[in-house]
Order: sequence, then C-alpha cells, then structure tokens
Amino acid sequence: MSSRPQLYDFHGVAMTHCVTDNWEKVKNFQARPDDILIATYPKAGTTWVSYILDLLYFGHLSPERQTSIPIFERVPFLEIAVSTVAPGAELADRLPTSPWLIKTHLPVQLVPQSFWDQNCRMVYVARNAKDNMVSFYHFDRMNMVQPEPGEWSSYFQRFLDGQMLYGSWYDHVGNWWKKTKTYPKLHYMFYEDIAEDTEREIDKLCSFLGLSPSAEDKKTIVELVHFDNMKNNEMTNCSKLNFLDFKISPFLRKGKVGDWKTHFTVAQNEAFDEDYKSKMKDPTLRFRTEI
Ligand code: PPS
Repeated sequence: MSSRPQLYDFHGVAMTHCVTDNWEKVKNFQARPDDILIATYPKAGTTWVSYILDLLYFGHLSPERQTSIPIFERVPFLEIAVSTVAPGAELADRLPTSPWLIKTHLPVQLVPQSFWDQNCRMVYVARNAKDNMVSFYHFDRMNMVQPEPGEWSSYFQRFLDGQMLYGSWYDHVGNWWKKTKTYPKLHYMFYEDIAEDTEREIDKLCSFLGLSPSAEDKKTIVELVHFDNMKNNEMTNCSKLNFLDFKISPFLRKGKVGDWKTHFTVAQNEAFDEDYKSKMKDPTLRFRTEI
C-alpha cells in the first residue's frame, strides 16, 4: 500500500533512489573554489546553519529575496532527486549569487571530488545522537519521500544498526570529524553549542569564513534565526515542500536539546549508552545530550 521508498545499499551506505537517482550529475558536480558546502547527518541543524550562512552573505540583498525565495532554493540540496523539486545539482549550477551555498547529507567519502580539488570551505553540523534520532523519527513520519518509520521501538533499533537514510549516524559524525584532522577548510559545529550561544557560534563561523559583520547585523541574524522566527517564516519552515505532511508533524518541530527524554524509555537509554560506548571510541569527539 505504501509508496514510500526503500533503503538499499549504495557504496556501503543505506540510501534511497530519492538521493541517488541523479548520481552521475552529483558525482561529476563541478564545484568552484569559493563554494561553501554545508554538510550534516539529516536533522542535525542543516536548515538553521544554512539560514545563518545565507544571512551572513546575502542578508543585505533585496528584501524581496528574503520574502520570496525559500531557503531550500537559496541553499540547494545537492543530491536530491525527487520529481516535484528541481534536482539540487542543477539548482546549484543556476544560483545567481556567489558564493554558492550548497547543502548535502552525504557521508564524507561520497562528497564529489571537485569540492576537494577546489579546496572548498565546508561547514559540518553534528547533533547528539539521541535528539538526532528523535528528530529523524518525526521527520520520517511526515516526509513522504522517506522510508516508512514504523514503530518507535523498531526505529530505535534501526538507528543503532545504521539502517537509516545516509547510513550510520556514528560513522557519519565520526568520519567527518576525522576529516578535520587532514582538511583545514572544514569547520565542525555542534547543534548544542548553537542552541547554547548562537552569537558565539556565529562568531566562530565568521572567523572561519573571514567575515566581520557589524554588531547590529549580528544581532539581527541572531534574532532572525531564533527557532520561533524560523518556524513562523514561510521561507525557512519548509512549508512549501509538497512532499512534507505538516498535518503529521511540523518541519521545525521542537528545536530543543534533550527532547529525547520524552521518547526514550529507561531501558532504551541504558541500551543506547552501552552501544554508544562500543561505537564511539574517539575521546576527542564529545556530544552533549543536555545543556
Ligand atoms: S534536514 O531535513 O536534515 O535538513 O533537517 P535539519 O534542518 O538538519 O534539522 C531539523 C531539526 O533542526 C531543528 N531546527 C532548529 N532548532 C533550534 N533553532 C532553530 N532555529 C532551528 N532550526 C531548525 C528543527 O526544529 C529540527 O529538530 P527537531 O528536534 O525535530 O525540532
């Protein structure tokens, strides 16, 4: 009965045809040296950081841009291949503004070669696994081009097993983290840090990007990217994406650190923590599940 896409193995990563159908174009995408790639595991704060970057670079352009072009067109989703939206790789090629800001959820090993060859700057955003899992679950409920999530308890196990679109959260955040050791033009951010002090994280982002916005501009950006403002803004709340069913769940759902506590049972939390220790061996990569 369901026409939801199924996961399949794509170069060792669980994927669906909705992100691999355009693969030749994605793989051969020609990045330019000043392009900025925003990379995340799904539901880690991609839209939040995309909007921050968009405002930093283009906040002063015409007011019409702010009220007429949704964030998913300002920051194209590189690998998306869903019939109702323009393929991300093509949309990116047609961007009228520079630098191109491009979103991807690809694991580091699948990023198109030209981004590395051109030495592009990259911003990776990571979110603690517990909240990430909960957010992904509700997204899968409302997103008709995602695999059927099923019951929470089986979803929980699938997440631990890495059977999610884009594969294992543990591999994704860990392999991008490893990349920071060899690729200096990669800025690794944490959702929890942005939630704790947005202005501080914008400052760090600006020093990575070589930007120096005025204090007033920064204040405006901090205000515009606040959860409530993004939720009420049609250009950032993704309400224009017709494969999302907002009757089931909003895209900007809660925007909290620690919402996992309303979903995890005590037994699930114990099982999760035990499994986490066995998978996350690098002591330099630390996540906060509350702030
Ligand atoms: S996607 O589909 O992968 O691009 O989704 P993504 O944007 O990465 O993640 C969506 C979650 O990020 C939350 N979000 C925010 N939290 C706090 N403040 C702001 N401004 C903000 N913008 C987006 C969004 O609410 C989703 O998390 P949950 O926990 O589901 O609410």
